Amino acid sequence: MSSVDYSPDTNSSSNSSTTATSVGVTLVIFIVIGVISCCFARKVKQCIVTELRNAVASSASNVAHSSAPYAVPVWEIDQPTMEKFIKEMAEQRAIRFTAHQLYYFTGNYSTPLGAGGFGTVYKGEFPNGVKIAVKVLKRNSDKQAEEQFMNEVGTIGKTYHINLVRLNGFCYDQYMCALVFEYMENRSLDKYLFGKSEELDWRKLQDVAIGTAKGLAYLHEECQQKVIHYDIKPANILLDENFTPKVGDFGLAKLCNRDSTHMSLTGYRGTPGYSAPEFLLKNYPITHKCDVYSFGMVLFEIVGRKRNGGVTDSGNPDWFPQHVWEAHEKGELVEFVRRCGYAEDDKEGVIRMCEVALWCIQDCPDKRPPMSAVVKMLEGFVEIVPPSKPFLYLDPTPKRNSRGSNLQQTSSSSDYSTSNEDSASYWYKKTTPIMKKYEIQIESS
Ligand SMILES: Nc1ncnc2c1ncn2[C@@H]1O[C@H](COP(=O)(O)OP(=O)(O)OP(=O)(O)O)[C@@H](O)[C@H]1O
Ligand SMILES: [Mg+2]
Repeated sequence: MSSVDYSPDTNSSSNSSTTATSVGVTLVIFIVIGVISCCFARKVKQCIVTELRNAVASSASNVAHSSAPYAVPVWEIDQPTMEKFIKEMAEQRAIRFTAHQLYYFTGNYSTPLGAGGFGTVYKGEFPNGVKIAVKVLKRNSDKQAEEQFMNEVGTIGKTYHINLVRLNGFCYDQYMCALVFEYMENRSLDKYLFGKSEELDWRKLQDVAIGTAKGLAYLHEECQQKVIHYDIKPANILLDENFTPKVGDFGLAKLCNRDSTHMSLTGYRGTPGYSAPEFLLKNYPITHKCDVYSFGMVLFEIVGRKRNGGVTDSGNPDWFPQHVWEAHEKGELVEFVRRCGYAEDDKEGVIRMCEVALWCIQDCPDKRPPMSAVVKMLEGFVEIVPPSKPFLYLDPTPKRNSRGSNLQQTSSSSDYSTSNEDSASYWYKKTTPIMKKYEIQIESS
């Protein structure tokens, strides 16, 4: 029996084991290289993030000293990092952009949204797809200092409330002065009140009024630095995708001079039709109550779903607030509201809004309720004290109303200027449930 020669197999097995070893070694080398590369990449990424954070932190500490928004060269950051950065920073303070960035974000300013007293607004988009509205401001003729701009923008940027339009950033250089706001999908309230095509139902309009009042109450009474808007009107009440109202353009009055649409008489601010009479009459000091007056005018426009000022077919002046007052004075608001075309279910809310509006437009600023009281009155959890006659300045002869009280009230004290409990009772009574007096009137009539 011949022995079997296994030697060739032995050779081949030793060859294959050598191959396996070398494959194994190569694999290990690759894995090691891979692990080292991963660690290195992570380290580099960490370094970038730390560097960014340091940049932000040091800028933020500068802000603390200068109270100005900080500038970070976001353009140098690659896109994914920038997305994260913008997302993080959008929740905090305004970012400084260059004119070149704004040019890119707005596609060379290809989509104008509208123009106002401060400049023109353009639609834009951050690289991460977040929509923005870029307001290119007219420069101040008196060459307002950069520092002042930064300080003002710093104040606006630090003001955060659900009912205020958020400032994402700004641009300030020798050629351009612009503000970057969050984009409001449903644009501004004027489109729904005065436009022909779109309408909002009464409940939505009520929510818009209450939300706007809350935004203003925050600016006047709650935020770190009291802000007077000076230009409350439907075009400055913006609506997000859910129709949540957000007050826009607050804090801008100090930043720039406005054009002729905003009247430029010395000391005059705001838009005719919404501006408080004390701007022209100079009979009272200008305080935050000028915003309350303008808000009252907006409430009338919400109720009437048209501009307050107008002319009748025969060419006579036709001022909606005057009609509301006359109806209120004669105790005919229910009828008036019915004539305006409101459904039975909505009447109580409409009448309430009329009464609040009449309080807001009182001649004497101290008699106008603070915005926190306006919120309560609009929400309907309190009973509104009947308002006294507004626009007395149009009628210099003192008269007595049907209830016998003097309509020409001359108080100019600050008794009612705060929202404390005692002064609030001037405008409303805390009675719950509210007596539905108008329903009672209907039933008994
Ligand atoms: N953040 C925003 N998102 C979407 N649209 C906006 C935004 N800001 C403004 N707009 C639109 O741009 C238009 C012009 O706004 P702009 O503030 O310049 O004028 P205005 O409100 O009519 O007057 P003013 O200068 O007194 O504020 C507005 O009517 C509104 O429709
Ligand atoms: Mg505006």
